Amino acid sequence: MLTINGLFAYEILDSRGRPTLAVEAELSNGVRATAQVPSGASTGSHEAVELRDGDAARYRGRGVRAAVSNVRALLLPSVAGCAAEDQKDLDGRLIAADGTASKSRAGANAILGVSCAVARAVSISRGEPLWKTLGAGRAAILPVPMINIFSGGLHAGHNIEFQDFLAIPHGFDTCAEALHAAVAIHTAAGELVQRRGYTLTGVADEGGWGPALRSNEEALALLTEAIETAGFHPRDQVAIAIDVASSHFHRDGRYHLTTEGRALGSEEMTGLLESWMARYPVISIEDGLHEDDWSGWKGLTERLGTRAQLVGDDFFTTDPARVRRGIEERAGNAVLVKMNQIGTLTETFAVVDMARQAGFRAVVSARSGDTEDPFLSDLAVASGMGQIKVGSVTRSERLAKYNRLLELEARGVLRFPGSEIFRGIV
Ligand code: PGA
Ligand code: ZN
Repeated sequence: MLTINGLFAYEILDSRGRPTLAVEAELSNGVRATAQVPSGASTGSHEAVELRDGDAARYRGRGVRAAVSNVRALLLPSVAGCAAEDQKDLDGRLIAADGTASKSRAGANAILGVSCAVARAVSISRGEPLWKTLGAGRAAILPVPMINIFSGGLHAGHNIEFQDFLAIPHGFDTCAEALHAAVAIHTAAGELVQRRGYTLTGVADEGGWGPALRSNEEALALLTEAIETAGFHPRDQVAIAIDVASSHFHRDGRYHLTTEGRALGSEEMTGLLESWMARYPVISIEDGLHEDDWSGWKGLTERLGTRAQLVGDDFFTTDPARVRRGIEERAGNAVLVKMNQIGTLTETFAVVDMARQAGFRAVVSARSGDTEDPFLSDLAVASGMGQIKVGSVTRSERLAKYNRLLELEARGVLRFPGSEIFRGIV
C-alpha cells in the first residue's frame, strides 16, 4: 500500500506577487510531488478561510507562514502513514485535524495544498496522467474554455462595475482551434479599443484588457464587434459570458452601477441582463445577483434559466450545502468550481457530481491570483463537465493551464465536446 511519508510546505508568490503556499508530498515509494495553491481577490463571504498571518510588516499582513507551519505541525501528524490513494479518507483526516466548519484553524490554503500534492504524487506513482487519477473512472473530456477579454470591477481598478467579459469559443472541433479563435478575438479587441481612443496600459489581474470604458454595456458591444472583426460568427461560433460579480457593488439592497449613474433592485438587474441577452450573444451569466439574494436568484432563474447558463460563484462558493440548496430551490443552473473555495478535492468532486446529477452545468475555474501550476486543467478534464475558466490568453499563470490542455489534446486521447456543452442555449 502506498502511504504518506512526509509533507514539506513553503511560501511562494502568486501572479499578483502575493504570498501563497506550495506543498510537496512524499509517498512511501519515494515519489515526491508539489502543488501550488491559488488565491482570489473578489472572494465570496462563504468561502473557506484562507489563513493569512496578519503581520503588517510582511506583505501587508498577507504572509502565509502560519499556514506553512500548520502543514507540518497540524496536518502531517493526522495523515502520516495513511493510504495515499484513498483521497476521501485523506481529505476526511485533514478536515478532522482542522476541526472547524470554515477550515480556519489549519487554513483552507494549507489543506488544499496537501490534498492536491498527494493526488499528484499518486498519479506519478501509477505512471498515469493526473486527470485519470483525479477522475477515478468519471468520463473525461477536454473543456471548452471561457476566456477573459475585458476586465472590470476588483480586477481592473473599478473602471466599470462588471468584473469579466469573456468569449466562449464553442463552435470548433478542437480545443486548439477554440484557443486560436480566442487569441484572434483578444487581439482584435485590443485594436478596437485603441481605435476608439482608449489607452491600453498593461493588463488586468487575469491578463485581459482593462480599459476605462464608459459603461458595462460598451464592453459587451466591443466584445461582440471584436468577435466579428476577428472573422467569427457571434453566438454560433463564439458566444459571450459575463461575470457580473454583483456582490461587490451591492450596498443597501441595491446594485450600484456608478459608471451608468443608476442603482438597481434585483428585478431591475434581472431585466437589464435579459435586455442584454437579447442584444448581444450572451449565453452565460455569473453572479448576476448578490451572494445571499436567494429570492432574487430564484426569479432570475425562472426568467432566464432556459436561455442562459446562470453560474453561481460567490453564490455557491463550491460548497456542497449551498449547491444542494440551489438545486432544491431552483436558484441558478450552473456552478463555478474553485477548489480553494472549499479546500479539498473530495468536496470539490462532491460539488461536481451533485451538479451533474441535477442537470446543472459546471465550470472549473482558476483564481485571479494564480500560479504556474497547471493542476486545474487536469481537474477540468477529470470533472467531465466540459468547461474551464482560466482568465485571458496572456500571462504565464494562465497559459500554463491552456498549454496543458493543448498537450492533452495533442496526445489524442481526449475528445473536445464544443457546442454540445451548450445545447439548448446557443
Ligand atoms: P477571484 O475572481 O479569483 O478574484 O475571486 C474570479 C471570479 O470571480 O470568477
Ligand atoms: Zn466570479
